[in-house]
Amino acid sequence: MATSVKRVTINDIREMKQNGEKIAVLTAYDYPTAKIIDECNVPIILVGDSLGMVVLGFENTLPVTMDIMIHHSKAVVRGTEHALIVGDMPFMTYHISIKDAMRNAARFIQEAGTQAVKLEGGVNVADKIKRIVDCGIPVMGHIGMTPQSVNQLGGHLVQGKKLEVAQELLDDAKAVEQAGAFSIVLESMPARLAALITQSVSIPTIGIGAGGGCDGQVQVINDILGLSDFIPKHAKQYAHLIDIIAKAVVAYREEIRASQFPTKENSYIIDSSVLEQVKAKIPLNLPLQKGE
Ligand code: KIV
Repeated sequence: MATSVKRVTINDIREMKQNGEKIAVLTAYDYPTAKIIDECNVPIILVGDSLGMVVLGFENTLPVTMDIMIHHSKAVVRGTEHALIVGDMPFMTYHISIKDAMRNAARFIQEAGTQAVKLEGGVNVADKIKRIVDCGIPVMGHIGMTPQSVNQLGGHLVQGKKLEVAQELLDDAKAVEQAGAFSIVLESMPARLAALITQSVSIPTIGIGAGGGCDGQVQVINDILGLSDFIPKHAKQYAHLIDIIAKAVVAYREEIRASQFPTKENSYIIDSSVLEQVKAKIPLNLPLQKGE
């Protein structure tokens, strides 16, 4: 009898914090990439709305819709067996009403098959987080530099250097924890502030541009693979795939030009007698009729 492979659960993630085990999180947006990440035993994969920028070429994440997120989340779920998959709720899909937030969170679970959702915001979205969690849907919070508020923040800027905002971020983290989130992303804030928040909450903090004092780290897969020429300060390139891909594409183009590809090995054969019969039925090289 086939046994189903157990996915990572939010309990496993909580335990990792308790055991002092650092949590690696990566984004993925498609089947093959998700499959590779999953086979590398990364415990959480985030289908981030960053896909709007790194996959779809938008200037920011604001144009991303629920339908786009569901489409990509389905592919990521199909490519994975082990990781906990978190679907990122796009701009304005959880702000208008609690009902809207619950309905859209449920779409990730029912249509896409993710195990959790992520929402940006702290005190201002705590009521939505609570109601979604009450429905049995695990929520990952996200505070600090929240890209969906890029226009309000005046850019993708580091948050919490000044006392007032630092205090707000601490309050946000507490509100997200109290609302029942199982973890919280801390994005672009001073490392010592993120470390303090990490010590102040019982749920795991997942940093991006928030220093090494968080319980885990999340990175955009395109950034660590070097799929873009822009390297954010918070990212480290572990490969430079642009060069590798460009080299392969140029080699392909040159082989086509030189008629070196395809070879016999890449071609399919037909029995000569079949081909002769086909040929016999085609009036080859007939002079063109008028109008053809
Ligand atoms: O959309 C995203 O990829 C994110 C992470 C960077 C946390 O929100």
